[in-house]
Amino acid sequence: MIISLYLIVFCMCAFYLHFVYRNWQYLKFAWQVKNGFWYPVLPLVGTSYISLLSGSKNIISLMQWIDKIKGFPFNLWYGDTYMYITKDPKEVKTIVNHPKCVNKAPLYDKFRFIFEHSIILVQDETWRKQRKHFVMGFKSSILKNNIYIYYNHSCQLVEDLKSVKMPKDIFRYCDRYAVQSFFLGNTGISQYLSSNEVEKVGDVILDIQDLIKSLVVTPFLSPKLFLTYFPAGKKVTKMLQEAKEIVRYGIGHKKNLLKEQSEYLENGKDLLELCLDYGKDDLDDNKIIQQVELFASAASDTAGHTLAFTFVLLGMHQEIQEKVYEEVMEVVGDKDITHQDLPNLKYTEAVICETLRLFPIIPTLGRRCDEDINLGTKIIPKGSSCIISIFHVQRDPKYWPDPLKFDPSRFLPENQSKINQFSWIGFSAGLRDCLGKAQGLAMIKVTVANVVRNFKIASDHKSIEEFTLTSCLTMTPKENLDCRFSAREKL
Ligand code: HEM
Repeated sequence: MIISLYLIVFCMCAFYLHFVYRNWQYLKFAWQVKNGFWYPVLPLVGTSYISLLSGSKNIISLMQWIDKIKGFPFNLWYGDTYMYITKDPKEVKTIVNHPKCVNKAPLYDKFRFIFEHSIILVQDETWRKQRKHFVMGFKSSILKNNIYIYYNHSCQLVEDLKSVKMPKDIFRYCDRYAVQSFFLGNTGISQYLSSNEVEKVGDVILDIQDLIKSLVVTPFLSPKLFLTYFPAGKKVTKMLQEAKEIVRYGIGHKKNLLKEQSEYLENGKDLLELCLDYGKDDLDDNKIIQQVELFASAASDTAGHTLAFTFVLLGMHQEIQEKVYEEVMEVVGDKDITHQDLPNLKYTEAVICETLRLFPIIPTLGRRCDEDINLGTKIIPKGSSCIISIFHVQRDPKYWPDPLKFDPSRFLPENQSKINQFSWIGFSAGLRDCLGKAQGLAMIKVTVANVVRNFKIASDHKSIEEFTLTSCLTMTPKENLDCRFSAREKL
């Protein structure tokens, strides 16, 4: 018995020494970080056990807990990978613009089973090639056309809200709306599918996202094992298959249409056409479907959640809502909202930007350092992960006075010069920033303007501190939020 005990202790020591030897440069660097070593790093698990100590089941609450007791920057270990966590805009600027920091951190590997070949995860040259190609789907000429589609879709939302009045789950309701907008505006797939099928693909994408979230909070579970053996995993596999079949059907129609048209506008290709174009050399049908699903996913809960948070915040701040209403009536009045109106809806845009400041839907970014990265005061060793807490940068009192106050005037044109460029990064920044920023913003702006001119929004929440947030890739409130819509009396 004693011998076995000695053997176990010996093995553990040998294992630990080997770990220290292999990770010496990271441990040395971590030691220099202001809030460096304050908990032991264990082989294999790294510092994952802290989640248990802190009672945090997700990255955002873990960071909030560490921030309270230690502050930024700090170190974490994801298994054997060292992670440097920062909220300093100067460091953010270096990281997001560094050509050797464009690849995603190992933290994102959990999403590979679904998005392996899509732009969000591909690396180096493949990413550069995809980025150059897909950027064409976000040209201003395409955006102009989409505004018309977004506006028509927002009119359907207005009709729906007249009867729904108080969506059971405002986040889910807005996510579904955003997925449909994407399929209408960015792929044109919906014209080949029934509205039920579009709804189904949208719902599957949202369900899959929910399940991915539960997968990510279980750090030791491999996605392959999960998909093959666990009932919830088998459900995801089945849902993925169903969504694939519907998207495949839509793609088939689109392919036929493109075959029939001997030439089509080089400048006006939508995202699906670009996916098909790219697929000519590089992607088989499955990879094209994956790419389409990624775009739908990137556009759904990001834009949907932003919309939901905006409605709730407007419901909580009646005087701000009235200012939006007045602006919309002054700029647009009762006519259709067009792309010419959007630049003039300055206050409405400021409301959306302030919502995204307080509630960045993607609250963290993770990059892998493919060489030593000089951050000015320190050099992060090659192989580390840099994690940027967008959530904390955007609530830092150093850059945002009275940070928890919902104050859209911060983003009005006359105040924009006061904003540190890298302290507002809700769409990320630098080389790998959000491709859909302009599309997302436009869709949300059109929708908010149309809803506010038709409804008074109300919410019983008193302050944003009330919201308990949870996040994996995207951030949501833990509990459903109160949000009600009552038709405005037309003057
Ligand atoms: C309010 C809405 C949106 C927000 C807040 C948002 C935010 C972001 C953020 C923070 C990233 C960086 C993710 C990372 O590096 O880990 C990103 C990337 C991306 N977003 Fe968005 N996004 C929004 C809407 C959209 C829309 C509507 C689309 C497409 C139709 C889109 C497409 C993409 C793509 C393709 C990337 C990957 C870019 C690359 O890796 O090169 N996003 N987005």
